[in-house]
Amino acid sequence: MQIEKFSKKQGEILKFAYSDEGVLICDGAVRSGKTIVMSFAFVLWAMDNFDKTNFAICGKTVSNAERNILRPFQQIEGMPFKMQYKISTRMLTVRCADRENYFYLFGGKDESSQALIQGLTLAGVLFDEVALMPKSFVDQAIARTLSFKNAKLWFNCNPESPNHWFYKEWITDDKKQKKHLHFLMRDNPILGDAEIARAESFFAGVFYQRFILGEWVLSEGLVYDFGEDNIVDEIPANGEYYISIDYGTMNPFSAGLWCVLGDKATRIKEYYYNGREKAVQRTDEDYCDSVEELANGYNIRQVIVDPSAASFIAALRRRGFTIRKANNDVLDGIRRTAVYLKNGNIKIHRSCVDSIAEFGLYRWDDKATADTVIKENDHAMDDIRYFCNTIMKNKVRKESNYTPIFM
Ligand SMILES: Nc1ncnc2c1ncn2[C@@H]1O[C@H](COP(=O)(O)OP(=O)(O)OP(=O)(O)O)[C@@H](O)[C@H]1O
Ligand SMILES: [Mg+2]
Repeated sequence: MQIEKFSKKQGEILKFAYSDEGVLICDGAVRSGKTIVMSFAFVLWAMDNFDKTNFAICGKTVSNAERNILRPFQQIEGMPFKMQYKISTRMLTVRCADRENYFYLFGGKDESSQALIQGLTLAGVLFDEVALMPKSFVDQAIARTLSFKNAKLWFNCNPESPNHWFYKEWITDDKKQKKHLHFLMRDNPILGDAEIARAESFFAGVFYQRFILGEWVLSEGLVYDFGEDNIVDEIPANGEYYISIDYGTMNPFSAGLWCVLGDKATRIKEYYYNGREKAVQRTDEDYCDSVEELANGYNIRQVIVDPSAASFIAALRRRGFTIRKANNDVLDGIRRTAVYLKNGNIKIHRSCVDSIAEFGLYRWDDKATADTVIKENDHAMDDIRYFCNTIMKNKVRKESNYTPIFM
């Protein structure tokens, strides 16, 4: 990889390396050119000012640090250094003329890193994606630099909620001296309009505000921006058929029948049963009857089910259905579902009145400190999320032939 030019904003990172300032924070959009220039400036600064000294390069995990920081850094062409990375000790030795310095790789979320970093004295620490690290690790690493008068701390991240500890304690605390640079994709000199538009299409809602606009915003209000554009009156003539299910005995039970063609899917029919409202509980066998009714006339490839519904899964298998346990990562699933709604990868048939109603009710918990949804009116929402995060995830990727590194 070649770095031919830096953007003005990236130039500010280099200026920090040659300044008296002790703390740099770069936050903002994905792909905006924060990590690559920060790691370059970090090593340059270290080699210019120190010899036989320890530094730390921290990622979310050590393998993240190796993949996102070390590897791109080693691939920069024309570097004036000799570099050697020892996997067993996770240490990069950088040599230049008669000097050498040692850069240890750590993962903020790795327990082993927490213990290892305690034993070191560091002249500088680079925290890549600091908002994904626990505060205890970051504090620990900072404490290791206190004996160096001219130590520097380098932080970068994408925004999260304004309740996040890093936002409160570092970004908005005026008592903390720092240079703060806010990045947008325009600050990355290699991205053109088409690449930026493409990256923008991978985020919707609060995730768009954070990862594209670079804003520290709360997840509040409705989870999905759902409207007439997401509803269809036609039923596709053919395709592959799937059923996604959120299982509940006391809570509502929701199942949707999907027709998938290429990277597009339509929820053509659904079944929704609220045991509490109807005051009659249904058994697994009753539910299996309803799923069979929903499937009637269609060749169902797979039924995607809430992985915790063990007895129900066994009952469905006895009826001959092929089961796929759903990926139940909530935020990841919401992020995907939001994007598929925005880009038209999933549509809801007008007859699916229960899921259409839930789209209008499903909300973020405004009072929670971390991103949390209110666990009400979320049953069709859950089965749709399972479908998107288990089946559509592969369909959309295959068709677009492109996997952004941040998905
Ligand atoms: N000045 C530059 N010259 C050449 N390539 C660059 C330059 N700036 C950024 N890039 C490239 O652009 C891509 C995105 O940059 P980088 O990974 O530094 O962004 P980031 O802001 O850290 O993104 P994220 O928030 O997603 O981690 C990388 O492939 C990087 O090598
Ligand atoms: Mg980065």
